[in-house]
Amino acid sequence: MDKWPCCGKISGLVSGLTFMLVLLSAQPGDAYDPVDPNGNLTIKWDIISWTPDGYVAVVRLVNYQQYRHIESPGWTLGWTWAKKEVIWSMVGAQATEQGDCSRYTGNIPHCCKKDPSIVDLLAGVPYNQQVTNCCRGGVIASRGQDPARALAAFQVSVGSAGTTNTTVRLPKNFTLKIPGPGYTCGPAKKVQPSQFLSADGRRHTQALMTWNVTCIYSQFVAQRTPSCCVSFSSFYNDTIVPCPVCSCGCQDNINQLGNCVEKDSPYLKNVRAITPAHNNAPLVQCTSHMCPIRIHWHVKTNYKEYWRVKITITNFNYRMNYTDWNIVAQHPNFNNLSQIFSFNYKSLNPYESLNDTALFWGIKFYNDMLMHAGSMGNVQSELLLKKDKETFSFKQGWAFPRRVYFNGDDCVLPPPDAYPTLPNDSPLKKGRCFGLMIIIMVLATTSQLLFL
Ligand SMILES: *[C@@H]1O[C@H](CO)[C@@H](O)[C@H](O)[C@H]1NC(C)=O
Ligand SMILES: *[C@@H]1O[C@H](CO)[C@@H](O)[C@H](O)[C@H]1NC(C)=O
Ligand SMILES: *[C@@H]1O[C@H](CO)[C@@H](O)[C@H](O)[C@H]1NC(C)=O
Ligand SMILES: *[C@@H]1O[C@H](CO)[C@@H](O)[C@H](O)[C@H]1NC(C)=O
Ligand SMILES: *[C@@H]1O[C@H](CO)[C@@H](O)[C@H](O)[C@H]1NC(C)=O
Ligand SMILES: *[C@@H]1O[C@H](CO)[C@@H](O)[C@H](O)[C@H]1NC(C)=O
Ligand SMILES: *[C@@H]1O[C@H](CO)[C@@H](O)[C@H](O)[C@H]1NC(C)=O
Ligand SMILES: *[C@@H]1O[C@H](CO)[C@@H](O)[C@H](O)[C@H]1NC(C)=O
Repeated sequence: MDKWPCCGKISGLVSGLTFMLVLLSAQPGDAYDPVDPNGNLTIKWDIISWTPDGYVAVVRLVNYQQYRHIESPGWTLGWTWAKKEVIWSMVGAQATEQGDCSRYTGNIPHCCKKDPSIVDLLAGVPYNQQVTNCCRGGVIASRGQDPARALAAFQVSVGSAGTTNTTVRLPKNFTLKIPGPGYTCGPAKKVQPSQFLSADGRRHTQALMTWNVTCIYSQFVAQRTPSCCVSFSSFYNDTIVPCPVCSCGCQDNINQLGNCVEKDSPYLKNVRAITPAHNNAPLVQCTSHMCPIRIHWHVKTNYKEYWRVKITITNFNYRMNYTDWNIVAQHPNFNNLSQIFSFNYKSLNPYESLNDTALFWGIKFYNDMLMHAGSMGNVQSELLLKKDKETFSFKQGWAFPRRVYFNGDDCVLPPPDAYPTLPNDSPLKKGRCFGLMIIIMVLATTSQLLFL
């Protein structure tokens, strides 16, 4: 019936690659994430009262991204005032620098800078310095993992700012650092005033004026080299396909010291050296891939109706405990994911027709923290997938993920021709399929060039 059984299954591969092509055509520069097309971080600036020389506003950072969070040491929000505004006081956050307030006598403002930088307060500040959703040390959860904590808020009292909705001016040039670059924020826009529900849920109040600013993340803007890679293995082939060499960097360009450390290096005994760097710069164990994170996908068991995958995430970074880590993986069989062990799971459906993307994260107090290298630096899970007779195959790498993200960063996958193959693939069939795959890859690359 099927002349080339191996190529019979190729339609799945073709559709997978077509989807990859769609993904590839979204270039990093345009900051559009095909797996989370509506993902952004919106700053909402609600004026809640006018004061004799300005206003009081509640500012909220609302994270709409399904799987990108902001980790410790947290966010820094900046803007440029349009006129001569000052910050009289803040609740739930603070300006990092007061600036020059010498023209004030008597009451001294909290901040007189033209371009203030605001940081969150740490948990545990006195109650009278808090507002709802403040004071988490700048940490913001992703919407997929913890929607209730996917926002931050603070209150600011602004002086010399105009005291009516016609005289007040919107701040300009919003910036969001995490702490480095990555987010690009658009202009402030006046929108429909926000509604607030009272604590007893029986009364709505309304902001006097509301501005939105939309910030979008891009790995390209973050100028980050890849931070994770993927390796493969399977029960049907002894070969372990490792992460591609130099996925995240190469060992031999040791121009700057501390490029990587050997597992048994005496350097690691120096505790000061392994405390977190303030810009979250990794200190990785020396490996051929040099990634702080490796995700291993093992095709473990084949049952009649089901098959089983084991996922292991390993931390090679001595400087980082990844709290609330997450991974996103894409596989055509995720539409029939029957059981997930030891991880939380949420199905992501960026496009209604494709239910092939899943978000996984750790279970609170069990494995939500991926400890630094040299300790228990790994977490594991197993997935049970129900076979779809139409598409299921162990051939041509079908059982491996099409795309993997760790904490929102795209991970480097082995090249398709390196995937573990079934032992009974004859060279002839292999050659044909391989040829087809090459053609598809070439097509993908050329059309990607066209998109540029
Ligand atoms: C930001 O995300 C929200 C929620 O997904 C969406 O309603 C809004 O249109 C997005 N804004 C932009 C500018 O993409
Ligand atoms: C200012 O507020 C008044 C009354 O609420 C409203 O009619 C007017 O449209 C507002 N003007 C602007 C520029 O928002
Ligand atoms: C805002 O940023 C743009 C581009 O960086 C710059 O040209 C402009 O002068 C800035 N505006 C203010 C008010 O700082
Ligand atoms: C502003 O925020 C509102 C309320 O969440 C949202 O519906 C709207 O899409 C946002 N507008 C822009 C331009 O992002
Ligand atoms: C990671 O967490 C452990 C236990 O809480 C702590 O001892 C260690 O210093 C942390 N490491 C880093 C790099 O933050
Ligand atoms: C997508 O697949 C998951 C896992 O099988 C299932 O729970 C979910 O209901 C599916 N969603 C849609 C929209 O089909
Ligand atoms: C797999 O999931 C799809 C869509 O969610 C469903 O139509 C199909 O029947 C499922 N297949 C099996 C074998 O359960
Ligand atoms: C296992 O897969 C590799 C490709 O990754 C292939 O070169 C090798 O021949 C396979 N081993 C067997 C026993 O088929």
